[in-house]
Amino acid sequence: MNKLIPVALCLLTTAGYAQNNAKKAIPFAEKQTDLMLKAIPAAIAASTKPNAVSPRTLSTTGELVMIPSKDWVSGFFPGELWYLYEYTHNNKWLTAAKAYTTNIEPEQFDKGTHDVGFKIYCSVGNGYRLTKDAHYKEVIIQAAKTLSTRFNPIVGCIKSWDNRKNWPFPVIIDNMMNLELLFEATKLSGDSTFHKIAVSHANTTMKNHFRPDYSSYHVIDYDPQTGAVLHKQTHQGYADSSAWARGQGWGLYGYTLCYRETRNKAYLQQAEAIAKFIFSHPNLPKDKVPYWDFNAPDIPNAPRDASAAALMASAMYELSTYSSNGKQYKKTADDIMNSLSKRYQAKPGESKGFILLHSTGHKPANSEIDVPISYADYYYLEALLRQNRLANGQSVIVQ
Ligand code: GLY
Repeated sequence: MNKLIPVALCLLTTAGYAQNNAKKAIPFAEKQTDLMLKAIPAAIAASTKPNAVSPRTLSTTGELVMIPSKDWVSGFFPGELWYLYEYTHNNKWLTAAKAYTTNIEPEQFDKGTHDVGFKIYCSVGNGYRLTKDAHYKEVIIQAAKTLSTRFNPIVGCIKSWDNRKNWPFPVIIDNMMNLELLFEATKLSGDSTFHKIAVSHANTTMKNHFRPDYSSYHVIDYDPQTGAVLHKQTHQGYADSSAWARGQGWGLYGYTLCYRETRNKAYLQQAEAIAKFIFSHPNLPKDKVPYWDFNAPDIPNAPRDASAAALMASAMYELSTYSSNGKQYKKTADDIMNSLSKRYQAKPGESKGFILLHSTGHKPANSEIDVPISYADYYYLEALLRQNRLANGQSVIVQ
């Protein structure tokens, strides 16, 4: 037998693993983030938006696009800085994370959007998790109070958007992600109201947002007076009846976190059913990085959405620890991370410091197609940390 074969096989395996593990990927992310921090002052100076504080994406001319805290994406970059600090324990990241998190804090009072969850939980939520700073705790509780003002007990849901001409009470599948803030606020304050609102929202969404195959609509519009479903439509997907990729990811992640917080088996089954829809779909590419919509008419030439893949990988690492399909789910998450690390990464020193390329923000609006975007990087780093904890035999979730 050729003695070189086992050695070669071993090298191949090691090389394959090394490309997607935190030990290699985090130093790359650190270098990219250093670059971004250097690019930010000039981008703020050039920004046409007042009060621009966080990076969002690249413009069509390759410039760094900065956004104010009121943008739903504003909390992701501070969250990335917290993840870098969590892995490296380097105070440089702690200092930066604190500074960029401070910028987002005014959002704790914005009653005009459900996105207070995304904004505050990804920034301040991670800050509290890692520092236990009492000030962050107060911000989280206030943000949960603010989000709760959007809950309508007749509908049983939190309203996503205001002032939509054709939708009196729109609820989008993305809104499942905001429940994490509410669960946390109950744990921090002892006030069960937030937990109850989260459970009601999850149950109502489970009833109305999903089709028999466990794909989800993007928008369900309710009658705020009766709670009746008025419309089942899309906003960012290809069609009302299609499966918008990131929306499927929000549902997967959302029900996984609801199971973590409640241990209600119905949520676990829902997450497993969503996982089955996504990962057995005939239009899912071999590398498991979805097209922006599972029903995009131009598949296989449709743009991908790396952000959907990253958040699905993160959710699948967590779900793997709850489900009897855990081994298969972990492999699915590893496969996604392998694909993202090999074929979707920015070149070192390029793309103004973004980590992943090839996400799709809002295809029907012709906006942010095949671009880097900060929420893709956030969920990719989160998935790397989860993968690393699993590899070390630690709990996937650190609270
Ligand atoms: N929450 C908006 C989006 O996923 O694009």
